[in-house]
Amino acid sequence: VKVDPFDIVVFGGTGDLAYRKLFPALFRRFLDGQFSEGTRIIGAARHDYDTASFKPTVNKALRQFAAEATQESAVDAFLAMVDYVSLDIGTDAGWDVLAAKFPDSSNYVRAFYLATGPDRFGAVAAQLAAYGLITPGARIIVEKPIGKDAVSAAKINDALGAVFAESQIYRIDHYLGKETVQNLMALRFANALFEPLWNSAHIDHVEITVAESIGVEGRGAYYETSGALRDMVQNHLLQLLCLVAMEAPAGFEADSVRDEKLKVLKALAPIDADNYEAFTVRGQYRAGASATGAVAGYPEDVGNPRTEVETFVALKVHVNNWRWAGTPFYLRTGKRLPKRVSELIVSFRNVPHSIFASDVKILPTRLVVRLQPDEGIKLWLMLKEPGAGGMRMRHVPLDMNFAKAFQIYAPEAYERLLMDVIRGNATLFMRRDEVEAAWRWIDPIREAWNQAQLEPRFYLAGTWGPASATALVERDGRSWYEET
Ligand code: BG6
Repeated sequence: VKVDPFDIVVFGGTGDLAYRKLFPALFRRFLDGQFSEGTRIIGAARHDYDTASFKPTVNKALRQFAAEATQESAVDAFLAMVDYVSLDIGTDAGWDVLAAKFPDSSNYVRAFYLATGPDRFGAVAAQLAAYGLITPGARIIVEKPIGKDAVSAAKINDALGAVFAESQIYRIDHYLGKETVQNLMALRFANALFEPLWNSAHIDHVEITVAESIGVEGRGAYYETSGALRDMVQNHLLQLLCLVAMEAPAGFEADSVRDEKLKVLKALAPIDADNYEAFTVRGQYRAGASATGAVAGYPEDVGNPRTEVETFVALKVHVNNWRWAGTPFYLRTGKRLPKRVSELIVSFRNVPHSIFASDVKILPTRLVVRLQPDEGIKLWLMLKEPGAGGMRMRHVPLDMNFAKAFQIYAPEAYERLLMDVIRGNATLFMRRDEVEAAWRWIDPIREAWNQAQLEPRFYLAGTWGPASATALVERDGRSWYEET
C-alpha cells in the first residue's frame, strides 16, 4: 500500500547507519512501490558534498548493502529523489539552505531522522524549531543510545520535548521492527492456546538470548563508553522481556501497548549493590576462534589493554507482579559468541505426574521463538516414536520456519519502522517514560558493578561467555536452551 508523499531529512546522512541501513531500507520500500510521486530523501551532514556528488555515495551504499540494487533504472529512479544539504548542526551554517527546501506551501509529511550521536539530538531539535521547519505533522526519529543513564536520557528527552510533542517523537528500537518480534504478539494475542498458561503457575522460566558472533567491528570508540549492558540490555533485551511479560493491551495502538510495557519495567525487581552477585554476570571476550579463524580479544580490538568494559552480560530477572512472581527470566547477550542467534524460550512446568514407565523421561514443553537467523517458532512436545516396541517417547518440535512457510519477502526492521513513522503509527516505538524507566532499572546494576570495581570475567571468543553465566542458570537446576 502506498504511503502519502513525504520528505525525510537524514541528519548524519553520510554516516554508517545511513549508508548501511537507512538508504537501503528506503530503497527497498521504493522498489516495492510504496512511495508516492514527490517523495524526497535529503541527506544532511557536515561533509562538503552537493547533491550531485552525494548521489554516487548513496549508489555505492545501495550496491553494497541492498542485494536488490541490480537494476540500474530502479537505482536511478531512487537517486532522482535524493538531495543533499551540507550543514553544521552546531552553528547556522547551511540551515537556511535546508529551510529553503521547505516552502510554506509544502504540506507533505516531514520526518527528521537523527542518525547522529545523542549529544546532537537537542541541537538539531532546537535548530529545526529556529528555522521554522516543525509543522504540526512533522516527526522526529531518534536512535539509541538515548543517553547513557536516566539523567542524561531525561535531558535528551527534555530537549526533544521542548520543540516536539511526544506524539511527534519516534524513538527507534530496531528489535521491535523485527518480524518475529511482532509475531510474538500475534502468537500471544491471536491464539487461544498460550495465554491461559502464560503465567508463573504454568511457566517455569523464560530465556532471552541475543548472541552475536561479531566483535566490536570498528565501533570501539562508542563501545568503550557503553558496554553490553547499555548497548543491548537497556533497550533490545528489556523490550523483548516487556513483550513476553506484559498484560494483554486493550488494543494494538501505541499507548495501549506502551502502557503495558511500562508496567513491566516498573515491576522489575531491583538489582543493586545488595544482590548483584547473585543476579548478574559480566564478561569480556579474549582472543579465541570464530567461524572464520583466529580472532583478537576485546582489549586488542579497541586498543586499550586495560579496558574493563563488558562485552557480555547475563542476568537473572524477576518481574514482581501477580502474573510472574516466582518465574525467573534469564537474559544473556554478548559479542564473539559461537553463533549469531536471537531467541526467546518459554519453558513450561512439567506435568505433575508421569503415567509412563519410570525409564521414560518426560521433558517439559518449550516454546522457542527464533528472531534471527532462520526466523521461526518451535513448540517442543513429547510424542511417541512410531513403532510397536512399546511407549518410546521423544521430545520433538512442531517446527514453523517462516521463510519456508510463507515464501514471501520479510522486510527488514528499518523498512517496517520507517514506513510506520510516515503513517504515524507509533506502536513499535518507545515512549519517553519507557526509556527512562528502563534506565532507572539499569543504572543501579552499573553503579553496583562500579562500586565493587567488578572486573568482567574473561571468556574465549567463540564460547558462550564466562563459566559463571552457565552457573547462573545451573544453580537453579536449569540450563540454557541449546538447539538439538
Ligand atoms: C545495536 C547494537 O543496537 O544492535 C550493536 O548497538 C549490535 O552493538 C546490534 O550489534 C545488533 O542488531 P542485529 O539487528 O544485528 O541483531
